[in-house]
Amino acid sequence: MTEHMTTAPRPTPTLPDAQTVTSVTHYTDRLFAFRCTRPRALRFRSGEFVMIGLMGESGKPLLRAYSIASPSWDEELEFYSIKVPDGPLTSRLQHIRPGDEIILRPKPVGTLVLDALLPGKRLWMLATGTGIAPFASLLRDPETWEKYEQVIVMHTCRDAAELTYGRNLIEALPDDPLIGEMVEGKLLYYPTTTREQSPRMGRITDNLASDKVFADLGIPPLDPARDRAMVCGSLGFNLDVKAILEAAGLREGANSEPAEYVVEKAFVG
Ligand code: A2P
Repeated sequence: MTEHMTTAPRPTPTLPDAQTVTSVTHYTDRLFAFRCTRPRALRFRSGEFVMIGLMGESGKPLLRAYSIASPSWDEELEFYSIKVPDGPLTSRLQHIRPGDEIILRPKPVGTLVLDALLPGKRLWMLATGTGIAPFASLLRDPETWEKYEQVIVMHTCRDAAELTYGRNLIEALPDDPLIGEMVEGKLLYYPTTTREQSPRMGRITDNLASDKVFADLGIPPLDPARDRAMVCGSLGFNLDVKAILEAAGLREGANSEPAEYVVEKAFVG
């Protein structure tokens, strides 16, 4: 049920740090993406997040951390969000339409950046649900493809419809005028569902721990000399994946001290 809305006119922003919504796409009753204008001065590294939101009823801004899903060269910004029926922000944010204003604090931060990883050969992007958002940015960044020989995207959702945003993005990469040629032969995509029957099933953690993903893709197992990983999902997912990566000999990196993997919690409420 992909429903897409877009309009051209852009009213003058009136809120502080206001940006104008340019398009909204609803993927399921739990997931939607939208694009908005980009502050002229905003520079960010692919994979970083910013605080965005709406004006609250009390007159105070209601803000949450959102990974920027668009690449750093894009003239607009893109975000991918869950809809939580009683979530203070997303219960309202899900109703935005083109021409509406959102608040965006132009201070990007985050650890899911290429700079926080030591040089390597394979880059694993491990995401559940809306945790695919920072990878939507990184996958469209030429630097990712310059730095790695292979990029493996594992994305797991409850059902197939929830994989649509990521699947559309990944299927469009070979035709991307900027990075299409760089992607050729380098991208392995491993989407799975956990609650709906589909060609590939199971949690990322189980598919890593059982070596199923390596067998299915015909690639060697994790090796700290070669593999780098970026992890973005729920708190439980992040902790479980960290344990697997640590057991394989990878260490957590940060901007100040790059290592073999980095983790960020996906926005949830
Ligand atoms: P499952 O269906 O087995 O719970 P959600 O929609 O609740 O955010 O979950 C997104 C996906 O992440 C689901 O497929 C879910 O699997 C999976 N998941 C949730 N927790 C973990 C975890 N600790 N380790 C691995 N996968 C997880």
